Amino acid sequence: MTTTARVPILAGSDAETVAVKAIAERWGLPSETMDNDVFQLWLTDGVLALHWLQSPQKMSPLVVDFHQGKAAYRAQHTQLKNEAIAKAVGVSGQFKPSVVDGTAGLGRDAFVLAGLGCNVQLIERHPVVAALLDNGLHRARQEGDFIGDTCQRMQLIGTDNLFTGNGYTQEPDVVYLDPMYPKTGKQKAQVKKDMQMFQQLVGSDEDADTLLEPALALAKYRVVVKRPNSAPFLAGREPNSQIKSKKHRFDVYIKRGFHESAN
Ligand SMILES: C[S@@+](CC[C@H](N)C(=O)[O-])C[C@H]1O[C@@H](n2cnc3c(N)ncnc32)[C@H](O)[C@@H]1O
Repeated sequence: MTTTARVPILAGSDAETVAVKAIAERWGLPSETMDNDVFQLWLTDGVLALHWLQSPQKMSPLVVDFHQGKAAYRAQHTQLKNEAIAKAVGVSGQFKPSVVDGTAGLGRDAFVLAGLGCNVQLIERHPVVAALLDNGLHRARQEGDFIGDTCQRMQLIGTDNLFTGNGYTQEPDVVYLDPMYPKTGKQKAQVKKDMQMFQQLVGSDEDADTLLEPALALAKYRVVVKRPNSAPFLAGREPNSQIKSKKHRFDVYIKRGFHESAN
């Protein structure tokens, strides 16, 4: 289940109280701590970090930083021909589809697509995840480098736009979905520490099946759904094609070919 546990946001210094208030208001987060808080968000020197106070083992806080780690490496080394996601979404040398990422999470997949030249509008319903992502995008854009430019192509537009139909700046060519799927046995053991924290916060998206229909209504050409290899089809609906990678697959639902007109 999606966890809606209260997560307070706190300022690392007096200078940051105004910024904290703005983030709290934007994402509807409380500012007071309680004795039984499981998580807390801290804004320190402009960096928003999620602390898991009751984690089973010592863990670094969770921060969205597109300049660090795997994200940065992938951005510098991403090649169209090597990325299953690029194939599934239909990115080519000539065509960079506009994408709505309806389940943005920490923005990792969207970042790969933006790195390949796509404009990506992001939707994330969990307020804490959205606040972390927003902060990561904001900081990355301030750097005038390739990663900053990539993040300029990513716009976090809100929390429930897939269902309301509001907030889009363009009709997307493709809607991309990657809802949380309950992890089991072996998969669970392999989950990295930062992802353990993410899973503890967000839980599994039990209502994921409801995403497919609005996604199909919104997309001009196709909907792409990322699933663990062992997972059933979203909403039990068989895709038109599948692109498989080591741990997961991309189910592709085609509305029309990229060169076909709407009529
Ligand atoms: C597996 S994560 C996505 C990870 C993401 N693809 C990435 O690369 O970082 C799934 C996310 O979708 C969000 N989500 C699930 N259902 C949603 C909905 N109906 N609207 C918006 N976000 C949703 C969850 O809160 C969670 O953060």
